[in-house]
Amino acid sequence: MTDLKPARILAVETSCDETACAIVENGRALLSSVVASQMEIHARYGGVYPEVASRQHVLSVTPVVEQALAQAHLTLNDIDALAVTQGPGLAGSLVVGMNMAKGLALGTGLPLVGVNHLEGHLYSAWVYEAGDLVPPAPQFPLMALLVSGGHSELNLMTDHLTYQRLGSTLDDAAGEAFDKVARLLELGYPGGPSIQKAAEEGDPNRFKFPRAWLEGTHDFSFSGLKTSVLYEVRELKKRSNTLPVHDLAASFQKAVVDVLYKKTINAAREFGAKEILVAGGVSANRALRQIFRAQNEFPVHIPPLSLCTDNAAMVASAGYHRYALGHVSQLDIDVLPTWPLSQVGV
Ligand code: KG4
Ligand code: ZN
Repeated sequence: MTDLKPARILAVETSCDETACAIVENGRALLSSVVASQMEIHARYGGVYPEVASRQHVLSVTPVVEQALAQAHLTLNDIDALAVTQGPGLAGSLVVGMNMAKGLALGTGLPLVGVNHLEGHLYSAWVYEAGDLVPPAPQFPLMALLVSGGHSELNLMTDHLTYQRLGSTLDDAAGEAFDKVARLLELGYPGGPSIQKAAEEGDPNRFKFPRAWLEGTHDFSFSGLKTSVLYEVRELKKRSNTLPVHDLAASFQKAVVDVLYKKTINAAREFGAKEILVAGGVSANRALRQIFRAQNEFPVHIPPLSLCTDNAAMVASAGYHRYALGHVSQLDIDVLPTWPLSQVGV
């Protein structure tokens, strides 16, 4: 797929607890990206409180869209198409972004493209800051590891918008495991960044936590690891009042990273992938980024940190690639809270 028609896409993303809007040119050049995070609001609940999230989106979505346009020094007249996250995500949250995007489409007459959030995460690897040197676009066949709070899966991409799901998690997603273990270690929410921070001062080899290799499959499993950390914590608490939190965090993080890394490399070899792509919230993890960057068998694409966790630039990029291939949604589309990537269709 070469020589796609040029287009400037404005995208809205409200699938979980971030209200986001971004403008991206030709699926790659980031003109603006605004993310209003609700993290502090949900931190007191130890996780996302769905009803609070949707009401917060109602408050934030209009100013966030206005800010994205202002940051790019553009008006809606400069936009060629709109994209919106259609799912998966929290229904009440998705509805807010969807209605905003439909309102913009009605008001301007611009075409609207409904985008799968997971497809968006993968496309974050195509985006670069406008003005930066243009990094090479990922090349197919591409082995794509998607690791977020709700999903962990390995997909082979043989072309744009084409996903062959090779494996996924049998239980907890990688990000979910980080969040649950962080709670167990009484570290802050969200768990990924707080485990990473604690792990920096810890010994990753102190505790020998299990790795679920699930030989012969490309699936993942993290619940055994989580239980093993729980048992270790219980034993340690019998012996002392203070937990070696840094060593526990570092050993846990290493167990997750080892599995994600080795299974991705093995799958890339097995399926003859040219390159590797790592995306989703957990791709912000420093240890994971380091291990992939330290090998030189496959070129690796990992989004910049600001585009790893939820944002709208990724939705704009995926929306562009859909729009350029003629995918436009009707204005009566519904949100799809459980929409798997395997069902997006080309
Ligand atoms: O992609 P994302 O922002 O939202 C979903 O679509 O789920 O991912 C959020 C997940 C959370 O579980 C969070 O703990 C994890 O990504 N995460 C990290 C890091 N930053 C965010 N996990 C490990 N290390 C990090 N630095
Ligand atoms: Zn996400």
